[in-house]
Formats: sequence, structure tokens, C-alpha cells
Amino acid sequence: MQREDQLNNAALMARRDAAVARGVGHSHAIFIDRGENAEVWDVEGRRYLDFAGGIAVLNTGHRHPAVVEAVKAQLERYTHTCFQVLAYEPYVELAERLNAMAPGDFAKKSLFLTTGAEAVENAVKIARAYTRRSAVIAFSGGYHGRTLMTLGLTGKVAPYKSGFGPFPAEVFHAAFPNALRGVTVDAAIASVEAILRNDVEASRVAAVIVEPVQGEGGFHVAPPEFLKRLRALCDAHGMLLIADEVQTGAGRTGTFFAMEQSGVAADITTLAKSLAGGLPLAAVVGRAEVMDAPGPGGLGGTYAGNPLACAAALAVLKVFDDERLLERARAVGAKLTQGLDAIAAKHRAIGEVRGLGAMIAIELFKDGDPGRPDAELAKAVLAEAARRGLILLACGTWGNVIRLLVPLTASDAQLDEGLAILAASFDALA
Ligand SMILES: Cc1ncc(COP(=O)(O)O)c(C=O)c1O
Repeated sequence: MQREDQLNNAALMARRDAAVARGVGHSHAIFIDRGENAEVWDVEGRRYLDFAGGIAVLNTGHRHPAVVEAVKAQLERYTHTCFQVLAYEPYVELAERLNAMAPGDFAKKSLFLTTGAEAVENAVKIARAYTRRSAVIAFSGGYHGRTLMTLGLTGKVAPYKSGFGPFPAEVFHAAFPNALRGVTVDAAIASVEAILRNDVEASRVAAVIVEPVQGEGGFHVAPPEFLKRLRALCDAHGMLLIADEVQTGAGRTGTFFAMEQSGVAADITTLAKSLAGGLPLAAVVGRAEVMDAPGPGGLGGTYAGNPLACAAALAVLKVFDDERLLERARAVGAKLTQGLDAIAAKHRAIGEVRGLGAMIAIELFKDGDPGRPDAELAKAVLAEAARRGLILLACGTWGNVIRLLVPLTASDAQLDEGLAILAASFDALA
């Protein structure tokens, strides 16, 4: 087959379907040719605004020039040694930076991995090694990855867990606060206490793992009071608090770590996604004495903390400073919220506009009734918006939430353009 014949989305999708396992799903039948900041062009030359960011990975946009430069410079020197074999300075510098930035007025240490799931796996390993306890409490609607332990922690069956059990034992799920569905902070805390009463004694619980804003679960924000009370519960029982900031971290919510906004410091924090501006990198940052619990050789990985990814992450941190992206995240969030509120005022289907900083979503219901989640409409809006040149993603327990993960480096004009496409898509489907 001539290469030119293949450069259309339909032909490439046919090849994808024939060659790639169907379990690797796809949101859009689009093949990218190139991307720049908040825009992508497909193989047929069509331009799209990218408000998905490869699922929260592109807070600094596609190919930020500073990230590209840093990676190029690193490419010219060395690309891999395995940090455990031959060390390199960018890994150490990044650890120093994150240790200083992470919430908590105590000494911290870090380790780098490649994916968010790997970071969560390691956070649990470290918590178990430190506490010498085994159980972990997670939350319904939470998402922590696709490996077997992280699937065990994940609180959503379809499509993630279906057919893949059994999962590791000693994982318990509590309720996550959700005002819309009547789950108060009191009720959520009571459900953690119920686990300690009914399922596992606190002295066997290594950690409680929580997302400060549930990502895949539907952009539900944990109220600061909830995180404070979880912290107190952990302290009372010698359990560690793990903040999974894989999706919320790296500035998405208007502070580098979303936990900063609650005034609560986790013992261990996981990061990944936007940390390295599009390169695969994950981090575990935590209390020094906790992080040092596993013995030498107990942590690591062949590619973990790859030099190109560490160089990219250092460039991302500099871009955050140079371009004041935390401030920008708050402004982007305010602008998107205002625009989405205006669309919601016209369309009853949008039952709620919510989020933290620039981590914003809308939840869709039939006739605005929270008891009737409308996943079909979410799917139709995604398809209509893509037809009109805007890439969006869905999420949520019922798949009825549309989330906006636009690069923080997008211009106001691009934000307006994206909102206008979204509004037109709702109008077209009304
Ligand atoms: C909160 C959270 N934790 C963990 C993960 C898993 O990250 P990865 O897909 O890089 O393994 C994700 C991915 O969406 C996430 O949102």
C-alpha cells in the first residue's frame, strides 16, 4: 500500500482496528499529523482546538518551545543510562525542586517513574514498607490506573475493571463527597469510619488514598473540610495519607499541587501527566522518613525517571515561573466557568458546571434531573464538537461529564473559540 493512500483518518482507523487490540479504546476517529500549543492538525490537514490535552498531559501545550529545546539539548548528550546504574543530575535537580514545592513543612524525598499507575503502585509499596501494614482505603468513583493494584484501588467497574479480577486483597472503598448526590462530608467520613469498624482494624491500614479532585470519576472536588478530617483520621490511627495528584497536579487547578488549596499536607503525593509537558514521567514525593522505608533496590525501574523526561519536567517548571501559569490557570478556570455557565443557562441538560482552577467540567442530565445521567448526549456533544473542530473528552461514573483540559498556554481567543464551538454543538443537538 502507498503511504499517501493511508493518510486519511478512515483508512488509518481501519488499519488500527485490524492491528491494535480493541481494548485500547479511542475517543475520536482522528489521526494527528502535528500539534502546536492548543491546536492540532489531523492527517487530512484539518485543524482542531485541543481541549483534551492527551488526558491532562499538556498543561504547557503541545511542543512548548522551552520543553522542545530542553529535550533536544538532552538528546545531544545522553538519552538513557538507567538512574540506578549511572546517575544524572536532572533527576536529582527535579527531586530537589519537587521536594521544596510539595505541601508540608517537613523534609521530603522523591522518586521518578514512568506512568501515573506506576507512581500509585510505588506509593502503596512505600506506605506498606513504612507502616508495616497492608490495607488501603480508597474511594468510590476514584481512578488510580490500569495495573492490577491500581485497578483494585479504582472505584469504577466499567470499562476499567471488567474481566480483570481478582484484584489485590485488603483494598476498601469509602464514599467520596458529592453534594449533587447528597453525599455530605459527614457521610463520606462516616463511611471511612464504618470501614474501620466493619471491615478492617485501623492498625492494619497502611494508607488512605484520595484524589483532591476526582478526575476520571467526573471532576468532583474534595471539600477542604473533608481532606482536613481525613488527615485527622489518618493521624489518629497512624495511617498515611496519599494524595493522588496524577491528574490534578502540575498546576491544573491553579496551584502546583491541588492539595495546597485545602491546607492539608499528604504524607505521599503522586504526580505524572503534565509534569513533563508531554513526555512520560511520574513522581512520588513524600516525607523523607516514609520514602526511605524501602531498602536500596526496592524501588526504581529500567526507564524510570528517563533523562529526556526529567529535562522536560525542569523546563515545564521554568515555563510555569516565566509565564506565570498558576495565575493563568485560575484565569482560564474563571473564563471557562463563565462561558460554561452561559451555555448552561440556555440548556437544561447541563445540570452542573464545576471544578477547581482550570480543571472544569459540565455534567449532563436528561431534563436536568440528576437521577438521569445523559451519557448519550455527552457522546453526541463530543462528536458534534469534533466535527466543528474542538477535541473534548468525557468522564464520570456514568460517562455523562464533559471535561475541559485545555492547555494553560491557550490564548483567550482560543478559549472563546472553543466555548463558541461547544455552545454551537449544544444548540445543534437541542
Ligand atoms: C488520578 C489518577 N491517578 C492515576 C492515573 C493513572 O495514570 P497513567 O494513565 O499514567 O498510568 C490517572 C490517569 O488518568 C489518574 O487520573
